[in-house]
Amino acid sequence: MRAALIGSGGREHALATKIAECRMIEKLFILPGNPGTKKNGVNVQINPDDQNAIIGFCLEQKIDLVVIGPEKPLIDGLADKLHNNGIKVFGPSQQAARIEGEKSFAKQLMKEYKIPTAEFILFSKNNYDEAITYLQSIKYPVVVKADGIAAGKGVTIAETLADAQEAVDDCFINSSFGSAGDKIVIEEFMKGQEASIFAITDGTDFVLLPAAQDYKRIFDGDKGKNTGGMGAYAPTPFVNENDLKKIADEIVEPVLKAMKEKGMPFVGCLYCGLMITNDGPKVVEFNCRFGDPETQVVLPLLDGDFCELLYSAACGMLKKDSVKYNGGASVCVVLASGGYPDKFKKGFVINGLKNVFQNVNVYHAGTKEADGEIITNGGRVLNITSFTEKNDLIEAKRTAYEAISKINFTGIHYRKDIADKAIIVIEHDDADLTDQHG
Ligand code: AMP
Ligand code: GLY
Repeated sequence: MRAALIGSGGREHALATKIAECRMIEKLFILPGNPGTKKNGVNVQINPDDQNAIIGFCLEQKIDLVVIGPEKPLIDGLADKLHNNGIKVFGPSQQAARIEGEKSFAKQLMKEYKIPTAEFILFSKNNYDEAITYLQSIKYPVVVKADGIAAGKGVTIAETLADAQEAVDDCFINSSFGSAGDKIVIEEFMKGQEASIFAITDGTDFVLLPAAQDYKRIFDGDKGKNTGGMGAYAPTPFVNENDLKKIADEIVEPVLKAMKEKGMPFVGCLYCGLMITNDGPKVVEFNCRFGDPETQVVLPLLDGDFCELLYSAACGMLKKDSVKYNGGASVCVVLASGGYPDKFKKGFVINGLKNVFQNVNVYHAGTKEADGEIITNGGRVLNITSFTEKNDLIEAKRTAYEAISKINFTGIHYRKDIADKAIIVIEHDDADLTDQHG
C-alpha cells in the first residue's frame, strides 16, 4: 500500500512511526512532515492547505490511502475532495467535521440525541443583552465558549459574573476570535477528571482505543494558560470498564447514529473529550481527528495492524480486531520553547538528539533542520514519549524524564508532573491493598 499522511506536528510523527511499521505499507509520504518523519518515509513539501497540490500528488503517486492529521484541512473539505477524486481517505467530510468546527452544532446534536454533556444555552451576537441578563441570573463557575475554532483560546471558565461578561465581550464586542466568536455557548461547569478517548469508525461500527489524559495548562499543578497540550499519558485509571461501556453505548454509538441520520456519516477518528463526573462520563467536546499529544501515548499501546484498521475504516468495512491493547503504559512530555504559549524565540540548537533511549520515542513537533543541526522552530518542540510493556505508569514516567535530562536547548520549558494525577491514585490504591493484605 502507498499511503500519504497530512500534517507536520508531534501527532503526525507518532502516526508516521506507527504507519511505517505496518506490513502492508510499501511507501509512506508525509505532506509536509518534519525532520523526525524523514525516518519514517518521504517528506514532500506540500502545504496541507493546498488542496489542489495534494490531489495532484496523490493521483500522480497512485496513493491508496490518505490519513489527515490536523483539523483545518478536514474542516476545509480536503476529505471530500480526495473522495471525489477516487482516493480513499481516513478522515471525515467537511459536513461531519462540523462536530469540531461548530460547538453549537455538536451541542444541539447531543441535546437532540440525549448524549450526556453539560447543560447549555446558545447566544448569537445580536442577543448580547440576553446573554448578559442570563449571566446575571445563574450560579458560578460557568463556562463561556466561542462557537468556532479559536486556536484553543475560545474557552473561559468564569468564576464570577465579571469574568463571564468579559468573555462574552471578547467574542461579541471586541471580536477577538473573528467570526468564530459570532455565536457563543454558555454551559454548566462539570467537575471530575478529564479523559480523551478515540473512536475509530467507518461511520457505523467503531472501536475504542485506550483512554488517555491530557495536560493542557502550561505549568505544573494545572496552573497558567491553556496550551495545545503539555503532555499526556495512557491508559488513564480514571476510565474504568463501566465508564467504557457507557462511553460506547451512551456517547459514541448515538453520536455516530445521529451523524448518519443527518446525512453526514463520520468516518475517521472521533476524539471524545470527556469529563468523568459522579454521574458518569459526559462530553466536554468532540474533535474530528486524533488528539495531540494523546496520539503519541495511545499508539504505542496498540498491537496488531494499525494500517488495516485505518484502511478498513476508510473503505466502510471496519475490521475492529485489527488492533488490540497490548497491556502497556505510555507517558509523553512536551518540551516547549520558553515563553510559549505567548511569544517565544526560535532557532536554538537542540542538543542530545543523538542519544539512543530504550523504550522512548523522541517525536518532533516544532523543529527544523539548518546547517546539519536540528533547531527549535515552534512553541511545542519535541514530545518525549516512553512506553512500558506492562501497565506501569511510574516506570514510564521515570524513563521519559530520564531521557529529557539528556536533551537540552536554550529556554527549554516542560512540566514535571505529567502522569502524576494517575500515579497518586495508583500509589494510594497500592497502599490500600497493602493495608488489606498486610
Ligand atoms: P474545549 O475547547 O471545549 O475542550 O475546552 C477546553 C478545556 O476547558 C477543556 O479541556 C476543559 O478542561 C475545560 N472545559 C470546557 N468545558 C468545560 C465544562 N463544561 N466544565 C468544566 N471544564 C470545561
Ligand atoms: N489534546 C487536545 C486536542 O488534541 O485537541
